[in-house]
Amino acid sequence: MKNKIRHFSLLFIAMLSFVHGGAQKYEHMAPVPPMGWNSWNRFGCNVDEKMLRETADMLVQTGMRDAGYVYLVIDDCWHGERDSLGFIHEHPDLFPSGMKALAGYIHARGLKFGIYSSAGFKTCAGRPASRGYEYQDALVYASWDVDYLKYDWCGTVGLNAYGAYMTMRDALYKAGRPVVFSLCEWGNNQPWLWGSQMGHLWRTTGDISAIFDGIRDHGTYKTLGVLQILDLQDTLRRYAGPDGWNDPDMLQVGNGMSESQDRAHFTMWCMLAAPLMAGNDLRAMSPSTIEILMNKEVIAIDQDPLGIQGFPYAKEGPVHTWLKPLSGGRWAVCFLNRGTEPVPLEIDWKRMVAKDPLNALELDPVAYAYAVRDVWKKKDMGTAAGTMTTLLPGHDVFCVVLTPVK
Ligand code: GLA
Repeated sequence: MKNKIRHFSLLFIAMLSFVHGGAQKYEHMAPVPPMGWNSWNRFGCNVDEKMLRETADMLVQTGMRDAGYVYLVIDDCWHGERDSLGFIHEHPDLFPSGMKALAGYIHARGLKFGIYSSAGFKTCAGRPASRGYEYQDALVYASWDVDYLKYDWCGTVGLNAYGAYMTMRDALYKAGRPVVFSLCEWGNNQPWLWGSQMGHLWRTTGDISAIFDGIRDHGTYKTLGVLQILDLQDTLRRYAGPDGWNDPDMLQVGNGMSESQDRAHFTMWCMLAAPLMAGNDLRAMSPSTIEILMNKEVIAIDQDPLGIQGFPYAKEGPVHTWLKPLSGGRWAVCFLNRGTEPVPLEIDWKRMVAKDPLNALELDPVAYAYAVRDVWKKKDMGTAAGTMTTLLPGHDVFCVVLTPVK
């Protein structure tokens, strides 16, 4: 009987691997949200090896790499043409030393190398994409030592998203080099429901603009401000966790918003446990951009090992209070002023009793004592008892971490 069961199980596994071709997602590639830099938000199609090498150098020199920003991802427009056998090549004028050499330069600096393609025939900028060439492209990426693939959804008329992303997932697996697989499907087909089977992060919305509140109309498509994207994340938190993250798009810090808007944007992305892909020119950063991108206490909220996406707890006028449970019984508590006018904030800690509706975690300043630390001022603020007052400027945050006092 035992033998029969064993034979049956083996047969079942063999059948399964036949159906899936023995391929799967590379597991455990993103236990915490991936961090790095991507060329698109600032450079669009103006990518070349010189700029990318300089960016790699800056990731090291600024300390960003050591703060966690390890993936350097080239977005659209690196492509040359396919050769007569169908293999894709880098654009020879933009990457005269070749992609493999660039990967070597990036790896030598302790960074990881990412690249971009799309599931359709053409990328969003009209370059050759992977439809029909998935397995060949995956082999080429592996031969270039690629560690991360962002896979877009342009040019996909008639394609089934689940199938298209699975094809590329399987191709990457068969190519044999572990990669983080970033699904950029814009939330069109609810990738949060199936994305974690395919990859490690999935875009939940259309593209982000460097605006805090508003929608930019580009004629054929629209891009969204920080608040517009934030408002689309609430209902998705149950789908995020280690190795599969909701991706509200890359960072626009340092790309033209005000300092407080950048700070609020960055903080809220950390409260969302979002992937943190900087998207600015690292060679020309203002001190405030550096301070925002490199605030280790705020990054730690994002990178907390529990991997729980935060949630809005209270909405009073323009001020929304967000909570994020952290390891060790700690909680991040952030007050976001969505309006443009300053608001006097009065925090009555004993009213801040909350339960994470998805996890058995409780914040209870009535029953327990918590130490309060302001993560932007980097200042201890005593304990969460009585009331705390502060003036919260427009488009800014007041953000603290509460740590249980033993
Ligand atoms: C889409 C993606 C962007 C970027 C561009 C490149 O719009 O959503 O993040 O990759 O394509 O063309």
